[in-house]
Amino acid sequence: MLSVQSALKDRRTIRAFKPDRINRESIMKILEPALAAPSWANTQPWEIFVAAGERLERIRQGYAKMLKDCVPRNPDIAMPKEWPDACRSRMEALKIERTEVLEQACRPGERLPDLMQMNYRLFGAPVVVYLCMDRCLTPWSMFDLGAISQSIMLSAQEQSMGSAVAVTLAAHPDIIRRELHIPDNLAIVIGIALGLPDPDNPQNQFRSTRRSAGEVVRFVGV
Ligand SMILES: Cc1cc2nc3c(=O)[nH]c(=O)nc-3n(C[C@H](O)[C@H](O)[C@H](O)COP(=O)(O)O)c2cc1C
Repeated sequence: MLSVQSALKDRRTIRAFKPDRINRESIMKILEPALAAPSWANTQPWEIFVAAGERLERIRQGYAKMLKDCVPRNPDIAMPKEWPDACRSRMEALKIERTEVLEQACRPGERLPDLMQMNYRLFGAPVVVYLCMDRCLTPWSMFDLGAISQSIMLSAQEQSMGSAVAVTLAAHPDIIRRELHIPDNLAIVIGIALGLPDPDNPQNQFRSTRRSAGEVVRFVGV
C-alpha cells in the first residue's frame, strides 16, 4: 500500500501520457475516494466533468485551432495581473529548467518541442477531469477545489496513474462548455489530465525543486 509520505514525495506533474484508454470504472476508483476531501462547512462546492474519447478529441482539436490562430486565453477565473518578485523568479526558473530538459533530449537537427504546444495537446492525456464551481463562489471555495485536486492526484497515483493539474486545460472554457454541456452558472476552474505516464518522455523525468522547510516554516513558541 502506498504511504501518504511516499505519495506526496513521488507525485509529479506528468506532461506526456500513453494514449491507452481508461475506462469509467477506473476513473471512478480515482474520483470516489477523493470526494472525501474537506470543504468549507462541508459545502462540497465542486462539480466534476470527465472528458474522454470522442468528446475529449473535439476539445483537443478546438485547442489546436486556438493555438494556431493565436487566440488569447480566456479562463473563467481571471489570471493574476502581477506576481510577487519571488514567485515570478521561481516561475521563470521552472521554464528554464524545463526547456533544458527538452534541449538535452533533443537529437541534432530535431525541432525543440514547444512547452505551450504540449499544454494545448492536453499532454496527450486520454482523460481530463474538469473541476467547476458556481460563479457566485469566492476564494473560500477555491481552497476546497485545491484540496480535492490534490486528493484526485494522490488517488490517481495509488491506481498507478499519472496526473497533471493545469490551468491551461481550462484556458478556453467556451470549447469545453460546448463539448461537455457545462451550464453557464458554473465556472470551469481547472483541468486535471489523467492517464498512464509515458515513461520514455524526458518531460516525465523532470523533478521540480522546492524551497526548504527551513526557509518556508517559521516556528513561533515551539
Ligand atoms: C493551479 C495549478 C495550475 C497549473 N497549471 C499548469 C499548466 O497550465 N501547465 C503546466 O504544464 N503545468 C501546470 N501546473 C503544474 C505546475 O507547474 C507544477 O505543479 C509545479 O511546477 C511543481 O511541479 P510538480 O507538480 O512536478 O511537483 C499547474 C499546477 C497548479 C497547482
